[in-house]
Parts: sequence; C-alpha cells; structure tokens
Amino acid sequence: MNTTDDLLAFLSSSPTPYHAVESAVTRLQAGGFRLVVERDPWEQLAPGRYAVVHEDSALVAFVIPASPVTGFRIVGAHTDSPNLRLKPQAEYTKEGYLQLGVEVYGGALLNSWLDRDLGLAGRVMLRGGRAPSFETRLVRLDHPRLRVPQLALHLDRDVNDKGLVLNRQEHLAPVLGLKDSGEAEVTALVAEAVGASVADVAHVDLMLHDTLEATRGGAHDELIYAARLDDLAMCHAGVQAIVGAANVTDGALCPVLALFDHEEVGSQSATGAESHFLPRVLERIGRRGGGSFDSHARVLASSLCLSADMAHAVHPNYESRHEPRHKPVLNGGPVLKVNARQSYATSARTATIVEELCDSLDIPLQHFVNRTDLPCGSTIGPIVSTLLGVPTADIGNPMLSMHSCREMAGAGDPELMQRLMVGFFGVEG
Ligand code: CO
Repeated sequence: MNTTDDLLAFLSSSPTPYHAVESAVTRLQAGGFRLVVERDPWEQLAPGRYAVVHEDSALVAFVIPASPVTGFRIVGAHTDSPNLRLKPQAEYTKEGYLQLGVEVYGGALLNSWLDRDLGLAGRVMLRGGRAPSFETRLVRLDHPRLRVPQLALHLDRDVNDKGLVLNRQEHLAPVLGLKDSGEAEVTALVAEAVGASVADVAHVDLMLHDTLEATRGGAHDELIYAARLDDLAMCHAGVQAIVGAANVTDGALCPVLALFDHEEVGSQSATGAESHFLPRVLERIGRRGGGSFDSHARVLASSLCLSADMAHAVHPNYESRHEPRHKPVLNGGPVLKVNARQSYATSARTATIVEELCDSLDIPLQHFVNRTDLPCGSTIGPIVSTLLGVPTADIGNPMLSMHSCREMAGAGDPELMQRLMVGFFGVEG
C-alpha cells in the first residue's frame, strides 16, 4: 500500500491516543519490532528492534545497532488531538433529551464539532482482570450515536454577521437520545461493545470522534480530508520511517521514535513530552550491559532530535495571516519551523542539517515563521530539547484547518516526510 493510503487507514483506525498507539504497535510488530515492558530488566537487550508502550497513550520505538551506540536520532510526535471528552458522571436529561457532559480537550475549533455524526471511543477499565484486579480494554463505537446540534438560524438571526459564540459548558453537550431508560446508557453501550457485563465496568475514559472516515479529495485526489492529521500524520510518518530505517541501519546510530500524549494541553503528565519517560528509556538503552554515565552523556552529546508536528499552510482566504516569504503550500514538501523565542526548537545548526539532508534526498523544503503580531503555537520540540539538551529541529507537513474536527492536507506530502525521517535516522551530526 502506498504511504498516503496507509496514512488514511492509520487515521481512521485511531480515534483516540490509545488507538493511535495500538495502530502504531501493529505496524511496528509487522516490521519486526518486539514489545518490551518497562517493568522488566533491559540490561541484556541484544541488538535489534524494540518498542515500549507507556500507560496506553505514549510509545518509544528504538533500534539497537550491532556496534556500541554513538548517537541517538530521535523523531518525536504526539498522539493526542483536540476533542470533546466525557465527564465522569456524564449522563443527564434535559427537556426530554438524554445528554452527556463534556470537557473541551486542547485548543479545539469548537464550531467544527457541531452537526456532525459522532461516535465514542477510548478505554475502559474492567473488573476481574489480573492484578491489581482490573484490565484495560480499548473500545470504539462507530455508529453515530451522538450529535451536538447547532441552534437554528431563525433563533439566532445575527450568527452569520456577528460570529458564532459558544459557551463551553452550555452549548457543547451532545445529545445521546430521547429516552431516559433509567439505566447508565454509556456504560451499557461500552460493556456491550467489549463483551463484558455492566457490573464489570469499573471506569471509562471516553472521547468523541467524527464517524466519517479519512479520505482523499480535490480535483485529482491531491488532497486529504481527515480528522486528527495534527499530529497523527507525523506519528504515522515516524512509524513507517523507523520500520524502513531498521532495514538499512548498519552503523552505530540508534534510531528512536517517541510518541507522546497530552501535547495539546501542555505536555505535563506521565505520558507527556515533559515526563521522564523518554530520558529513562534512552538511559536504559545507553547504559545497558553496565555502561557508565559518562559514556551515556557522550552519546547524548552526539544526538539529534526531529520534532514532527503539523505546520500551517497558507490559507487562500486569509493569506495576510502569514509572514511574507514564509507561506508553505500543500504538497510543497516538509516545513521547517523557526521561532526566535524558542516556541520552536530549530537552531541554525539543526536547520542546516535538515536543509542538507533534504538537498541530498531531493526533497523540497519549505520555511515557516509566525507573523510577529500573532502568538506562536508550540510543539514538543522545545520541551524534549530542554529535557535532553539535544539539538532539535521542528518540522511538519503543511495543512489547513488545524484543530478542526475535520482537517485537510496534501496527499503528496506524507511520502516526502517519511523519506526525510528515514534519512534523518542515519544522518551524521
Ligand atoms: Co500538534
């Protein structure tokens, strides 16, 4: 399957960060990667391909070369996307409707969640599993059971001229149905979906997703219309790249793919980029078999990181929102992002490494810097480079509608990014 079609399948199979990690693991295992567990000893890990999942929503994959590691080549991305998430006691009835209380996760474009046919997915904790007596199962309800209906124009006459203002508490609660059966409907639906009894469901962690599948679009299928392109498109590119790189690695570099959760809410969590998860994994790789801290520090000093997060393509209806001479276009290739205030981690040195790499691989490279009068978004790049002290470049493929429930990008860019990442895994620094 070609890169773009495989990306569409990855997006459709990953409505939540947990499903994204599961989709990544499936591809990594097919590529010869073996799952290792954090609680097991790693001191005797032989050269080879490994992946470790952390609390269901973060993952690090790595390739231990045959000779002693001289440097890490880290590609990082994030598994989470802005969306609506169920509150703990979510169900209530109002005016004859059965509704769910939701929290807004990340910087969602709220209007984009209106009038869509929504499903429910996430993870469920089941009682009666192994110690400590519960079991985690992923769950996914794709039948469009939910909808956040927009107020009719007749009852909101000014909306098109004054703009839509949505109160997060009042206006975003989805409708789950009309009848209140007196039962816990969500628990019943989830239990049925995972083949358990309602009494077995200890806890649910659920979020909403658009039930429309990812697809190609445009006059010549040159576009992609999909949810969660930010940042699952970069997770997918990283997975495909490390599988590809593992087949060609014969040097002493150690390719690493790090996928983190919670980027959209600041990265501070056990599974976020600011956690000690990645540094801990790197130290266990670097010092396995009794390596000293000094030797590990030397390896880190020879390491590089590529922070991959989607970038803003120029929007034809709002072209003035872009800095002149820095207007990435769809299917124009990867975008290198720079910010003097370090919202992006790219430095002159890492920019040169990426530019030379693209040059040698015949990959077009675009450049982005924010307008100075607009606040700049950020990525995991500054966080990971702060934590590790490793020079980092921020890159991403261009897209429109970032943080919408349904985003769009170019169908030609995924393959270019994947090739860039394969090259990066073997680049000298
Ligand atoms: Co992002």
